[in-house]
Amino acid sequence: MRIIFLGPPGAGKGTQAQFICQDRNIPQISTGDMLRNAIAEGTKLGLEAQKIMERGELVSDDVILGLVRDRLRQPDCENGCLFDGFPRTVAQADGLNDANIAVDVVFELQLSDELIVRRISGRRVHEESGRIYHIEFNPPKVDHLDDVTWQPLVQRHDDSEAVVRARVEVYREQTAPLVDYYKNSGVRYFEIDGDATVDEIRNNIRERLIAAEV
Ligand code: AP5
Repeated sequence: MRIIFLGPPGAGKGTQAQFICQDRNIPQISTGDMLRNAIAEGTKLGLEAQKIMERGELVSDDVILGLVRDRLRQPDCENGCLFDGFPRTVAQADGLNDANIAVDVVFELQLSDELIVRRISGRRVHEESGRIYHIEFNPPKVDHLDDVTWQPLVQRHDDSEAVVRARVEVYREQTAPLVDYYKNSGVRYFEIDGDATVDEIRNNIRERLIAAEV
C-alpha cells in the first residue's frame, strides 16, 4: 500500500502521517525530514538544500527522486509507505511512474492561506524524533519541552511568515497541478478538510482508508 499526502505547508500532513504510519505499520517518507537530516549532518546535499529551503523554494527534482529511490530500496518499504510532501512537481510524479512505483491512494489536505500562516507560525518541533506541536492548538505538556524526552522544542528555520508565504506560492504554482494529475490518473483520491481538529481529520482519513479497502 502506498499513500500520498498532498497539501500546502501547515495543512497537517506530518501530524496525520505519524498516526497513519503507526496504524498501518508503514514508514513515513518525508522528503522535508530527509533534507533536514542532511542539513543536520552537514553533508554536501544538506548545505545546498539549506539555502533553497530557507528561500522557500523547491530542491531539484533529480536530487529528490534520487533520495526517494534510495529510500524505497530499504527493507521497511516492502509493505508500502506514506509519502509526506512528495511528489511536489509533475516531474517527480512522473519519476515515480517511470520507476513503476504504483500509488494506491492520494489524500489532499486543504487549508486556507490565513490558517496556514497561523499553523506554521505556532509550530514547534522536537528535532530528533520529528514530533510536532503547536503553541496554541497542540501544546506540549510543559512549555517549550518535548513530552517524551523533555528536550527543548525548536522552530524550523523556514517557518518565518515571509518564507511561509513564499512556500505557499510555490505550492500553488508547482505542486497544485498534481491535484488534476492524480484526479485524472484513476488512483483513489480524497479531499480532506484540513480546518478540523486533529482527531476529526485522523478519523476521516482512517474511515476513508477502510472504505477504500486498502
Ligand atoms: P516540508 O518539510 O515537506 O514542509 P511542507 O510541505 O511545507 O509542510 P509542513 O511540514 O510545513 O506542514 P505539514 O503539512 O506537515 O503540517 P504539520 O503537520 O507540521 O518541506 C520543507 C522544504 O523542503 C520545502 O519548502 C522544500 O524546500 C523542501 N522539500 C521538501 N520536499 C520536497 C520535494 N518533494 N521536492 C522539492 N523540495 C522539497 O502541521 C503544522 C502545524 O499545525 C503544527 O504545529 C501542528 O501541530 C498544527 N496542526 C496540525 N494539524 C492541526 C489541526 N487539525 N488543527 C490545529 N493545528 C494543527
